[in-house]
Amino acid sequence: MLGLRIALVASIDLRPQNSSSSCCSASASASIPRAAATLHPILQFNRREVRAAAASGALTEGEIMVKAKSLQVTKFGGPEVLQFEDVEVGEPAEGQVRIRQTAIGLNFIDIYYREGKYTAPTPFVPGVEAVGVVTAVGPGLTGRQVGDRVAYMGVLGAYTEERLIAADRLVPVPSSINDVTAAALLLKAATAQCLLRQVFKVEPGHVILVHAAAGGVGSLLCQWGSALGATVIGVVSTEVKAAQAKEDGAHHVLIQSEGDFVEKVKQITNGEGVHVVYDSVGKDTFLQSLACLRARGCMVSFGQSSGFPEPFTMSVLAKGSLFLTRPTVMDYTRTRDELLTCAGEVFSALAGGIIKVRVNQTYPFSATAQAQKDLQERRTTGSTVLIVDSTATDAAKV
Ligand SMILES: NC(=O)c1ccc[n+]([C@@H]2O[C@H](COP(=O)([O-])OP(=O)(O)OC[C@H]3O[C@@H](n4cnc5c(N)ncnc54)[C@H](OP(=O)(O)O)[C@@H]3O)[C@@H](O)[C@H]2O)c1
Repeated sequence: MLGLRIALVASIDLRPQNSSSSCCSASASASIPRAAATLHPILQFNRREVRAAAASGALTEGEIMVKAKSLQVTKFGGPEVLQFEDVEVGEPAEGQVRIRQTAIGLNFIDIYYREGKYTAPTPFVPGVEAVGVVTAVGPGLTGRQVGDRVAYMGVLGAYTEERLIAADRLVPVPSSINDVTAAALLLKAATAQCLLRQVFKVEPGHVILVHAAAGGVGSLLCQWGSALGATVIGVVSTEVKAAQAKEDGAHHVLIQSEGDFVEKVKQITNGEGVHVVYDSVGKDTFLQSLACLRARGCMVSFGQSSGFPEPFTMSVLAKGSLFLTRPTVMDYTRTRDELLTCAGEVFSALAGGIIKVRVNQTYPFSATAQAQKDLQERRTTGSTVLIVDSTATDAAKV
């Protein structure tokens, strides 16, 4: 390729922008001369400057070979196994688009993939949720065009600046929602929508128990569950998290270290128990969660931040004729219609003030390993977003 045409590697320089110490970053698009690209075909220009150079005619799009900084997992382990690589993105195939990402949603699921609890063949790029702009459209594809602002969830490979993705997994982002909010929202709120509106339909008068009530999904479950008319009981680990859960509409908040939550749930419900438990903690809480249910109650085990629950016998469900389900949001948003209906309900809930998304932490993409560590060590509340492009925060209006 180098012999045939100029190949300029468009890769984000992770150093601060406008850094005068950057040997290769250009100060303005106009200062990237064609001759320089000819002499030094592989240069680390700032991505925005490269795009501007293409826009100004200094380089054509065809002369830019897109290479993206991507975080890869080559072996399973702690946050240190996340390593940056330059990956050639290529052109979208039929049914695909290429998107330049501005913000990536951090999810506990990313940790399961990094540790090998959820498996993918190595090496792979983790991350399942991001927001960005379409930069190329595959042959014959209609309904998507360059410049569209889009978001996706549940598609592995999100820890990257730019990627290819199946167009039918993309959701258009309403112009009223900025990139960071969308990245903080889509997967977590879609999960909350499925859990509250599809897996177990919460109605006024229900009593629901929400574990990790100050977390990303938990915060939204408290808000939405309360808006649906349920009495919400939240479980958290600290006073600070308890205060947030109360603000989010939890009527009762239990702090794990302050004694047996089963006993307290029984007291709150006059010995009856709750209609449904939303348990994302797994190993540490599974059996106690079952003990919190009233007769014919529903146990929704949707995650395992403390580890997978121990194997158990079916007879544990016999006391109270309990229901048990282990849902994933992807099974509730399999078809394009299901995906758009769910996302539409999420965006409406946000617009209608039923939910607000708490973006309590942002990290530059370069600090993803630290972000994962903080999430895993229970130092975060609400949602966490990895910022790929610093313009993401004000990119709502296009
Ligand atoms: N099934 C699905 O489709 C689906 C989709 C999205 C997410 N999820 C699940 O939803 C859960 C929440 O995800 P999230 O991204 O929003 O994360 P998160 O809730 O913001 O973070 C996890 C929280 O879990 C609690 N926790 C309890 N025991 C823990 C332990 N041993 N180690 C770490 N954390 C522990 C902590 O809250 P406290 O300190 O208050 O205990 C922690 O802040 C995860 O289990 C995830 O797998 C499932």
